[in-house]
Amino acid sequence: MTNIILLGPPGAGKGTQARYLVESRGMVQLSTGDMLREAQTSGTEMGKKVAAIMAEGKLVTDQIVIGLIREKLQGGAEGGFIFDGFPRTLAQADALAKLLDEMDLKLDAVIEMQVDDEALVARITGRSTCGGCGEVYHDQTKPWPADGKCANCGSTDVQRRADDNEDSLKTRLMEYYKKTSPLIGYYYAKGNLQRVDGLASIEEVRKSMAWIMGE
Ligand code: AP5
Repeated sequence: MTNIILLGPPGAGKGTQARYLVESRGMVQLSTGDMLREAQTSGTEMGKKVAAIMAEGKLVTDQIVIGLIREKLQGGAEGGFIFDGFPRTLAQADALAKLLDEMDLKLDAVIEMQVDDEALVARITGRSTCGGCGEVYHDQTKPWPADGKCANCGSTDVQRRADDNEDSLKTRLMEYYKKTSPLIGYYYAKGNLQRVDGLASIEEVRKSMAWIMGE
């Protein structure tokens, strides 16, 4: 069993690689972004508040996301967990360490996906997702098949996220540098940190991650 964290700014490729690891290694992806988008559809007061915070590009409170992760960890994962977009603050990192400890689980690697800011704008503004299966596409680098049907599930439901615009991205990047990037030093000091060149092709990034994970 391997438990890993994917760490990187918005658009670094965390979700793309996590999907591949789910398919190829049977790992369980814990994406707090996906969980929060799901919470938005509940129509509750909490869901509405979360939607407004996310559209602006700010971080949702530690209390909410730690609660979500705690709940999902109870389900267990034979192939290991991929923490995608969590932790994002030092308080979340400490909470995760405590939760893993309580469950007798260990963290095998924290993989920092390094991408420069200019590339992120192009990646975020060109992204779309399949509403049927969650497959991630990009207008230039991974366009939808010409027949308009998702290559994975055949759905024609092309979705674009409310926070995938240049204004929200500026705030998301600011939040990343202020609150999340200190985790790089935190995990380096713990001896968990590994780095991959997130600017390489999707396939090259896959290979680097496989190497880190001992394949
Ligand atoms: P979240 O959903 O986690 O978004 P994010 O971190 O901003 O990351 P993205 O999903 O935008 O990017 P990604 O790295 O997964 O890239 P992808 O693989 O899609 O969070 C959204 C919001 O939720 C936050 O802003 C916050 O409000 C809230 N939130 C979530 N977690 C929270 C937490 N823990 N605490 C507090 N608040 C939280 O790739 C992007 C594009 O690039 C795609 O089109 C893809 O095809 C393309 N691409 C990927 N890899 C490559 C490559 N190697 N080469 C070329 N193109 C590539």
